[in-house]
Amino acid sequence: MKLYVPRDAAALAVDAEKVAEAVLAEAKIRGTEVELVRNGSRGMLWLEPLVEVERDGVRHAFGPVSPRDVAALFDAEWGDHALALGPTEEIDWMKRQTRLTFARVGVIDPLSLEAYEAHGGLKGLRRALGMTGPEMIEEMKESGLRGRGGAGFPTGIKWDTVQKAQADRKYIVANADEGDSGTFADRMLMEGDPFSLIEGMAIAGICVGATQGYVYLRSEYPEAIHVMREAIRIARAHGLLGASVLGSGFAYDMEVRVGAGAYVCGEETSLLNSLEGKRGVVRAKPPLPAIEGFLGKPTVVNNVISLGTVPVIFEKGAAHYRDFGLGRSRGTIPIQIAGNVKFGGLFETAFGTTLGALVDEIGGGTASGRPVKAVQVGGPLGAYFPRALFDTPFGYEEFDGEGGLIGHAGVVVFDEQADMLGMARFAMEFCAVESCGKCTPCRIGAVRGVETVDRIARGDADAIPLLTDLCDTMKDGSLCALGGFTPYPVLSALMHFPDDFHARGKEAAE
Ligand SMILES: Cc1cc2nc3c(=O)[nH]c(=O)nc-3n(C[C@H](O)[C@H](O)[C@H](O)COP(=O)(O)O)c2cc1C
Ligand code: SF4
Repeated sequence: MKLYVPRDAAALAVDAEKVAEAVLAEAKIRGTEVELVRNGSRGMLWLEPLVEVERDGVRHAFGPVSPRDVAALFDAEWGDHALALGPTEEIDWMKRQTRLTFARVGVIDPLSLEAYEAHGGLKGLRRALGMTGPEMIEEMKESGLRGRGGAGFPTGIKWDTVQKAQADRKYIVANADEGDSGTFADRMLMEGDPFSLIEGMAIAGICVGATQGYVYLRSEYPEAIHVMREAIRIARAHGLLGASVLGSGFAYDMEVRVGAGAYVCGEETSLLNSLEGKRGVVRAKPPLPAIEGFLGKPTVVNNVISLGTVPVIFEKGAAHYRDFGLGRSRGTIPIQIAGNVKFGGLFETAFGTTLGALVDEIGGGTASGRPVKAVQVGGPLGAYFPRALFDTPFGYEEFDGEGGLIGHAGVVVFDEQADMLGMARFAMEFCAVESCGKCTPCRIGAVRGVETVDRIARGDADAIPLLTDLCDTMKDGSLCALGGFTPYPVLSALMHFPDDFHARGKEAAE
């Protein structure tokens, strides 16, 4: 009997390890032979730990399974049981997705290179090795892939700049700082399919002429650090990394570097300083990291999902990827649904699904059962969208047109009890705490922002225009998007939920 118990951090947090132990113990007592595979998560987090049994080549899901359910599940021979969910791929949440980047996550043992290859792994790299550097750039440009870290910059254009730069050394850096609130796609990919990131980084390295790569990984992800390091070791032992990648003659190697935990260290120049052992302070641009990056050398800095998507683009061809999507947002996007929501998790789909469909249909509305009040998309710098904007399709330009951003595609849901003045205050406070201190509009502005929101809360209506003025200064004068985008959650809260500001102010004044 082949059983799957995830080793993803989200599953481990709800006792997946104890479930795995109970499965082995129960099998031993019964004398049943069990092959236990520790896979990544399927992304249906409300069902974790989600245990699967493979029968006639079909995987059947059970969840959420607790250690004390295990004996009864064996009694039922992993068939007819209250926790049975049917074939995993037939669950509505799975059926509605288009999994390109996450195709293997939750399916395979993340540390089995054999399973990786059996599921299409390394085909992209092998194809890339038969192409010239400029042909690879064309493939990337043709795919339409845009950076999934937040800014949505075309990946092919970034690689082109690094490829054309003249230097004795170049670098690839995977940004695995994943600081946005409600996001976990990078972690899930690294824990569930680490070879896809390694393969993507190797393709990037060979394409631009970089021989060394780094995964800058946040210290809050110990599982991901462990799995990535182990996967790199295995990849090296199998000749996928090293002096001659898959015997091609191209050298490329990589390692994990652990960040100490600062939101601003996800910003690429701050990240590079941190990687060099310096304080994580933002560098002024230009020069771009693509020209002068790590140790002053041309560097590709890309998000984990951007790099982890490269193998499937090369495996299936740019056109296959580009044919999904909407407008200038091509391909698929792994959306992370979180906050006060019934069904939270990772949902990969082509761009174009509306925000309302994601929240109401896929997310199932709020966990509290109360009406949705606001949704913050794009992390702590993203705007709050009211229900009136639920028709907005998921796309870079479409969200921008409504004063929002997609960022790393985190969707955080709030119910009617959310206090939007409090959320505006939190945005300013977050910026004040996380500011690197390099520029005045952010360093001082965020502190003044907290004070100004507090004045509004105390009933001082004159402070409202002051807050909008301050936001304009932060938008126009900040060196990076931390100070420059903090006004978006603040002003969207003020614009879409004015009652929370005026009513609270009036109440306090009376
Ligand atoms: C304050 C701040 C925090 C950021 N945090 C992250 C992060 O955690 N992960 C990430 O990939 N990009 C983050 N970014 C964006 C990076 O600066 C950069 O645009 C990205 O890593 C480039 O990769 P991409 O083109 O693949 O998205 C952040 C930007 C800012 C301004
Ligand atoms: S906006 Fe804030 S985080 Fe960005 S450079 Fe200025 S002080 Fe640093």
